[in-house]
Amino acid sequence: MLLLLFLLPGLISAENCITCVGAGNKWCVESSQCNSTLTGCQTPITLQLNCPTSPNPKYAYDDNFMRTQQIVLASASHGDQIQQCFELVYNQIPTMKLYQVRTVQCSPDNPNITCRGFTAYDVSQQALIISFRGSHGDDQTQQLFDGYANYGIQSYSGMGGKIFKVIYDSFMLLWNGGMQQDLRTLKYKYPGFELWVNGHSLGGMLSWVASSYLVTSGLYKTENIKVIAMASPRMGDYDFAVWYTATFPYSYHIVHRRDIIPRMFTVNPHDNTTALFHPRTEVWYNNFMNLNDTYNICQEADGNYCSASVTDNLTMWDHIYYFNVNMPQWGRDGCPQNRTPYSQPLDTFFYKLVV
Ligand SMILES: *[C@@H]1O[C@H](CO)[C@@H](O)[C@H](O)[C@H]1NC(C)=O
Ligand SMILES: *[C@@H]1O[C@H](CO)[C@@H](O)[C@H](O)[C@H]1NC(C)=O
Ligand SMILES: *[C@@H]1O[C@H](CO)[C@@H](O)[C@H](O)[C@H]1NC(C)=O
Ligand SMILES: *[C@@H]1O[C@H](CO)[C@@H](O)[C@H](O)[C@H]1NC(C)=O
Ligand SMILES: *[C@@H]1O[C@H](CO)[C@@H](O)[C@H](O)[C@H]1NC(C)=O
Repeated sequence: MLLLLFLLPGLISAENCITCVGAGNKWCVESSQCNSTLTGCQTPITLQLNCPTSPNPKYAYDDNFMRTQQIVLASASHGDQIQQCFELVYNQIPTMKLYQVRTVQCSPDNPNITCRGFTAYDVSQQALIISFRGSHGDDQTQQLFDGYANYGIQSYSGMGGKIFKVIYDSFMLLWNGGMQQDLRTLKYKYPGFELWVNGHSLGGMLSWVASSYLVTSGLYKTENIKVIAMASPRMGDYDFAVWYTATFPYSYHIVHRRDIIPRMFTVNPHDNTTALFHPRTEVWYNNFMNLNDTYNICQEADGNYCSASVTDNLTMWDHIYYFNVNMPQWGRDGCPQNRTPYSQPLDTFFYKLVV
């Protein structure tokens, strides 16, 4: 027991927190105290989801993997030069091959509103990729907001909790619009490969839906999936966040400094009542996300912790730039290897841009 205490102090603290919060008390992270009338605690915990936990070291966060590969994958979907983003000219992920791009109409009455994603494969890294583009333009933003307000969150077979119907529907349109066939074909050809699911903004929400769907439909085992979402709003209730977190051992949500979008929807806009939560694990870069910049692998999940502890000067600039590259622009230009022209101007860092 003594040995266990030395080996697993984090785990034991988390279990004490879970017991404490489960009994209706508050847990204080700094003092490891459980007290129903706790006052003056810097990091109080009242929900079991938020009890301090680190990701399993077997599925550890790797900054280099994100800044060299995931950022390329997540940016590429914005343009028509996806293969070039990987290898043809710039040699960024030289062994990555684009398989298929799918674009579908995502609104029943406006053909200009589309959802987009692609599949790819990498024989040397033994990985398949399914990647989703973020939203484009005011029409799509409006369509999504209407969807959140009109249809809110709903439950789906096999998944815990509830998620935004409009996001689930958007995924299904892409899935039935070709991505299902593409992924099944790749999986048949490369049965042992792991699957990376990624996207930025709306693309991140679609990644959460896609991974949930792939697992609940029996197509994939959770331990073979790596989920990398960036800059995404909340899209599900507490039970969804708990279910998703328990289901996916490799799931990271990368958040840049004061990005306004991941702060969105603390409650379901359909009823203005049901609280919404991100699934674990947030990784917060409170800087430009340059090479060697520090980041916080957030131990607490979704409350006033990590990025959500900052509420001033939230900005769209920090939404567009991840790993210090203007993702949509860089992706549209075919992801040139020299990222300097796409890096975040110093002054934007301090200005509000709310669109
Ligand atoms: C709980 O906190 C209150 C106020 O901070 C304090 O007076 C009390 O002694 C604490 N109880 C325990 C069991 O720590
Ligand atoms: C779609 O885009 C075209 C070109 O910008 C525009 O003329 C048309 O009105 C748009 N359609 C809708 C339904 O918004
Ligand atoms: C929720 O709040 C928004 C903003 O205050 C309001 O426009 C909307 O009508 C409210 N919806 C419901 C269902 O109360
Ligand atoms: C980043 O860190 C590595 C290893 O410590 C070092 O070699 C490199 O010069 C650093 N790069 C920058 C841009 O700080
Ligand atoms: C927010 O931005 C304003 C204007 O740039 C600045 O004066 C203020 O200190 C900022 N607030 C915080 C908390 O950084």
